[in-house]
Amino acid sequence: MKLQIAVLPGDGVGPEVTDQAVKVLKAIASEFDHTFKFKTAHVGAVAIDHYNDPLPDATLKLCKSSDAILFGAIGHPKYDNDPSAKVRPEQGLLKLRKELGLFANIRPVKAYDTLLDKSPLKRHIIKGVDISIYRELTGGIYFGKKQTSEDGNTASDLCEYTREEIERIAHLAFDAAQNRRNKVTLVDKANVLESSRLWRKVVTEISKQYSDVELDFLFVDNAAMQMILNPKQFDVILTENMFGDIISDEASVIGGSIGLLASASVGKKYAMFEPIHGSYPQATNKGIANPVASILSAAMLLEHFELYNEAQMIRIAVEKSLKLQISTPDVNTKYDHITTNKVGDFIEDFINNPGDTNMNFTNIHLGQSTII
Ligand code: IPM
Ligand code: MG
Repeated sequence: MKLQIAVLPGDGVGPEVTDQAVKVLKAIASEFDHTFKFKTAHVGAVAIDHYNDPLPDATLKLCKSSDAILFGAIGHPKYDNDPSAKVRPEQGLLKLRKELGLFANIRPVKAYDTLLDKSPLKRHIIKGVDISIYRELTGGIYFGKKQTSEDGNTASDLCEYTREEIERIAHLAFDAAQNRRNKVTLVDKANVLESSRLWRKVVTEISKQYSDVELDFLFVDNAAMQMILNPKQFDVILTENMFGDIISDEASVIGGSIGLLASASVGKKYAMFEPIHGSYPQATNKGIANPVASILSAAMLLEHFELYNEAQMIRIAVEKSLKLQISTPDVNTKYDHITTNKVGDFIEDFINNPGDTNMNFTNIHLGQSTII
């Protein structure tokens, strides 16, 4: 298959983790005889520095002319600590989502057996967790009318949803549930918010078309608690933009590190793949950022094009790396010399040598491997 992939590394650790994902995609291309072409463009704080625009036209144009987008991370502390900043890096990402119509953000959350002890949650609570979060991505409070009064003492953000916006992501969530464990949990705040009541109404109507899928409702405050108390009850979670943002960071604790969580943002025409984590500025260029979220986002990209064997190969390589603790410090307390780059090298090498015995890999920590 021929694919042109726009690479938007963005800010902070974005470039270093995205480099690993590109490395891995190149290994897949050579192993499976595909042609992947990569073109890089600026977004976020780095784009503001260069062009005073978090999403320059050239970047948007590249995204629109590519088959898929691989996104790194966005955000810089100099804007976080300045509430009066008129231009912010995050606007680049939000505009990109909106312009490309990426209305559904799919965030899989999984407890890896080898990492159960890395989570602060108890082993028996998280073992076997496998959740797919469907977060609405181009509506709600993120995109509603924003206002600050002239005296600067009152501000508001409108949370607005239309039936169509709810319907299109609800269908995707129910379709996904049919291929999983046939359960959708709608997370909302229907006891307080009018917009949530519209979600309940529309999603209940749609559920009638999916009689084999059980529909459950949870208020977001309760859902936040249930995510820690009994996450195994969840199969597909369907929710609006901001609740999805919050609940997915919380859910990442189950996996042991937010550095493992990948996501796909899809619309009718375009698709973008990005880790759920932020730009982690403190870690920039230290080689400690976990590239697995970005690498697994690349696997989701391949799945989007129905390259299932290729994606599976990445997943096997990632699991192998976790098992052998060829991992960055967030999930590795045993070895302190494994950098972002080394994790990428190992996964790349694993893909390039599928017939190799595991012997070579188990020697890595003895310094006898050729890989690291
Ligand atoms: C995410 C991030 C973004 C969001 C930020 C960077 C704008 O937190 O993708 O989860 O809030 O959607
Ligand atoms: Mg977030």
